[in-house]
Amino acid sequence: MSTASVEADSTARTAWNPSTWRDRPASQQPLWPDQASLEHVRKILADLPPLVFAGEARQLQDQLGEACAGRAFVLQAGDCAESFDGVTADSIRDKLKVILQMAVVLAFSAGVPTVKIGRIAGQFAKPRSSSTEVVDDVELPSFRGHMVNDISFSEHSRTADAERLVRAYHQSASTLNLLRAFTKGGYADLRQVHVWNQEFIAASPEGQRYEKVAEGIDSALRFMAACGISIDAPELHQVDFYTSHEALVLDYEEALTRQDSITGQWYDCSAHMLWIGERTRQLDGAHVEFMRGIKNPLGCKLGPSASPDDVLGLCETLNPDRVPGRLTLISRMGADKVSETLPPLLAAARDARHPVLWECDPMHGNTYTTAGGRKTRHLEDVVSEIDGYFRAHGEAGTWPGGIHLEITGDDVTECVGGAEAISDDDLERRYETMCDPRLNGAQSLELAFRLAERLSD
Ligand code: PEP
Ligand code: CO
Repeated sequence: MSTASVEADSTARTAWNPSTWRDRPASQQPLWPDQASLEHVRKILADLPPLVFAGEARQLQDQLGEACAGRAFVLQAGDCAESFDGVTADSIRDKLKVILQMAVVLAFSAGVPTVKIGRIAGQFAKPRSSSTEVVDDVELPSFRGHMVNDISFSEHSRTADAERLVRAYHQSASTLNLLRAFTKGGYADLRQVHVWNQEFIAASPEGQRYEKVAEGIDSALRFMAACGISIDAPELHQVDFYTSHEALVLDYEEALTRQDSITGQWYDCSAHMLWIGERTRQLDGAHVEFMRGIKNPLGCKLGPSASPDDVLGLCETLNPDRVPGRLTLISRMGADKVSETLPPLLAAARDARHPVLWECDPMHGNTYTTAGGRKTRHLEDVVSEIDGYFRAHGEAGTWPGGIHLEITGDDVTECVGGAEAISDDDLERRYETMCDPRLNGAQSLELAFRLAERLSD
């Protein structure tokens, strides 16, 4: 047995409850200056209703199990960091529209069922490479997401405020409420497929390509009806849409962890799926300890330093019963490293017969800063990492099960490239992200078409 397996075994044997993570080193936690306020907030959160139902998390896990077996593809997408400011029905709807459009392109062009998961309704906490930021010789705590502090550079804004955890809960609840209304109340009906094409996207080449797909769906529905096949099936009129975020601030996640009355198992009811970030995936760390005990489907990011032993340790600790769909490993290597760093990880899980669902995050390994000081990503680097990811899976005989993206429905200019050839200079026009650069609506749709081509190869 490798060292990682021995460690994983001893981890798995100890008893778990929602607070056992407190005995482990917890990195990336805010420095809460007011402990009394944190205690008060933890009690408030613990008394609030769950945001999701355990049965929904189980349903998602079953669908992820299908993807793990090569029978579906996962589209996980949304903001790098959601904001407390300016959240309107329109902004939530526009994000959903782009995800629905991308899913339609994948399902229609590649013929693969698509599992749809948003980075939404809870994606409010960010890990940082440095705990402080210096501007003009002034050093202040780094911005850690709206769940913790504010982005503006003043001592007051940057001080961690536990009351923000309650605000994150309520903001998640109202976002989720609208998403449920849209996806179950008729807006996501396949007969609305044209309506999802927003004006600024419709005018672009990929928007026009999408219109052709939409027309194809219209004629398929008309053809089915003409043949006397019922088009009343709920699958055509409703969509299953799930929520996810990085489980980073453990005081928040613990307070929303509840015992399911049906199975007696623990679920973190802050979202359907939770993931562990690249900076917090230490096997003996607090995040892995917390996540191993909750029954939601889990993700874990893997950067270029991840080793085959890391993969085996995570598999044995987070999915000891080898349940397909329980564990998604999300590689984020960078276009220039993926061909070298991913294959040994795929081989390790495959040879140990661990049912891993693999996802590719082609965003976080391809970020760079322009001469003008903007953090950006080039669409061609994103596609190039996806190509390396598909190639590695082809060679390993494993299924490239999904994609993990940072996107928005808005007409922003944060990532360069794409059919509209957004350049470094264009970044000044509409650079709105609070954290990492996101693909805009047209770039997201273009990526969906390019993915569909690869999936149907
Ligand atoms: C993220 O997904 O926004 C993120 C911080 O990713 P990673 O943990 O892979 O760096
Ligand atoms: Co990010």
